[in-house]
Amino acid sequence: MKRWLPILLGLVGTPVIAFGNDWGMGASNAKIPSPAVFSPAATPAHEIRTLAYFVITVCAVIFVIVASLIIYSIIRFRERPDDKGREPAQIYGSNPIEFAWTTVPVLIVFVLILTTARTIYSVQAAPRPPDSISVHVIGHQWWWEFRYPELGVVTANELHVPLSDPAHPLPTFLDLESADVAHSFWVPRLAGKTDVIPNRRNTMWIDPHQPGTYLGQCAEYCGTEHALMLLRVIVEPRPDFDRWIAAQKQASIADASVDHGRQIFETTACVNCHVVRGTAAEGRFGPDLTHLMARETIGAGAAMNTPDNLKVWVHNPSTIKPGALMPAMNLSEKDLNDLVAYLVTLR
Ligand code: CUA
Repeated sequence: MKRWLPILLGLVGTPVIAFGNDWGMGASNAKIPSPAVFSPAATPAHEIRTLAYFVITVCAVIFVIVASLIIYSIIRFRERPDDKGREPAQIYGSNPIEFAWTTVPVLIVFVLILTTARTIYSVQAAPRPPDSISVHVIGHQWWWEFRYPELGVVTANELHVPLSDPAHPLPTFLDLESADVAHSFWVPRLAGKTDVIPNRRNTMWIDPHQPGTYLGQCAEYCGTEHALMLLRVIVEPRPDFDRWIAAQKQASIADASVDHGRQIFETTACVNCHVVRGTAAEGRFGPDLTHLMARETIGAGAAMNTPDNLKVWVHNPSTIKPGALMPAMNLSEKDLNDLVAYLVTLR
């Protein structure tokens, strides 16, 4: 049951992160506001909420009218003792009534179509200012790759973007592609879902108005670990963002005290899938690990990024994320400890 719950919740797009799990996520996420669609923090999410309120209001009015008529009819025309089994008067055909219940719904649907189209257009047709930040998002089974082509930075699962001041908007534009199957990028407080599809480039943008961490997740079923394909967006003022970029651009620093761990990393299968800039590791299947410790989580949000969790992860990722495509490394206890000691130097 415990395994099924997150998968079930992931299927309907409900963030499993709100429930926490065994790897320190619950305590960490308690500090982050829940990813509610009704507390937007960027323009696209605001526009979607306004539209949602309008649609909910229209539907609520219809519901109240229909439910009142039903309740009235049930009470007014209920069976009474002196009915003696007689049927009520049978009425066939009424042009005014049929005309009314055809045109009124058509008009309502038409209004909903127009307002929805207007919202979609105003979000999608927003121009891309020349100074906006561009990020290339690549969905993988089951993690997110974030590339900043103009800034020369590659990271995973935790997207950093600058704060956008309404007086001086600084939007971030995302170009989304998939390396394998269809995914969907969704950070409820920042924007609507955008499909991430192989051989197709979709575009979306965000302009977060409040600094902080925003939780999101893949919203399209994409295989076993769809429910643990989580992501975070870290929104910080421009100077902090620039400092983060500058730190990310550095190559890894070789620390002599962890030479043995680095040797293990460079002589095992790790290098086939991971990049650590400044070393021989140039694999592209898995996340770039050059600044692994700058991230709060591992396994695309499956566990907090602590040395203990890293050790469990490297020993056998399936302990934390069953079905993860990274193989169990099956290292000896000493090699495992040395390898983790090396990984924690990747700051
Ligand atoms: Cu990726 Cu669901």
